Amino acid sequence: MRESAAAPRPDDTVAPDELTKTHRTETKTRTTAEAKREGPTLDTIKADPRVKTYIRSANQQTGAIGYTEHGERHANTSADGARFILKSLGHDARRCEVAAVAAYLHDIGNVITRESHGQTGALLSQAILVDTGFELEEVATIMGAIANHEESEGGLPVSAVSAAVIIADKSDVHRSRVRNPKTTSFDIHDRVNFAATSSEVKVSRKEKLITLELTIDTEVAPLMEYFEIFLSRMMLSRRAAEFLHCSFALVINGTRLL
Ligand SMILES: [Fe+2]
Ligand SMILES: [Fe+2]
Repeated sequence: MRESAAAPRPDDTVAPDELTKTHRTETKTRTTAEAKREGPTLDTIKADPRVKTYIRSANQQTGAIGYTEHGERHANTSADGARFILKSLGHDARRCEVAAVAAYLHDIGNVITRESHGQTGALLSQAILVDTGFELEEVATIMGAIANHEESEGGLPVSAVSAAVIIADKSDVHRSRVRNPKTTSFDIHDRVNFAATSSEVKVSRKEKLITLELTIDTEVAPLMEYFEIFLSRMMLSRRAAEFLHCSFALVINGTRLL
């Protein structure tokens, strides 16, 4: 049964100045001192021995079953991407930090099993986040974002932080993630990642547009293979962009495809 008496949650999908219809030209950058006053940061999480060990182990274990890189490189790229997306849209500094933390931790559940790694990762992160001093509201947001990042596990954007994590994760397609040293035994995932020589997320707050620009070497993987693997990921990215009140564009080799 739905709780009708509960106070409505504030809309966290828009930046504060969107609500008051004033527009800043520049997003305020927060100083280290301000970050510390606001609570634990991404650096706090990166320094936690559990996080270091679980991400390293998750990366080894996904490698053992033939997946592309899921270690600190992917965690850092996703954290940078999620922070950049919300910052570019004018969200406040603390929410940007929370998004970076959620993105850094999003694949940690691979230390348990690949299947349902979103859900296991969310539960695994809970104690770490509480122990390192995150507010319970932030813990809840981060858990929801981790649990909802995977399209194959029914993930959907459930908050601004979650939407940013989805787009940052799905846009990390690059040849440096391929671990199979033999090009002759590449599977379709290896080929598609290896074919991507650059991937960049661009955010236009003015146009309300989030664009993923990819350069794909079509000698390595034809575009059809890219779509076979990535269409569901791009659909989820589009939903995430819409959650942030933006359109989503996919540009491959200079041509807009979505
Ligand atoms: Fe994942
Ligand atoms: Fe990921």
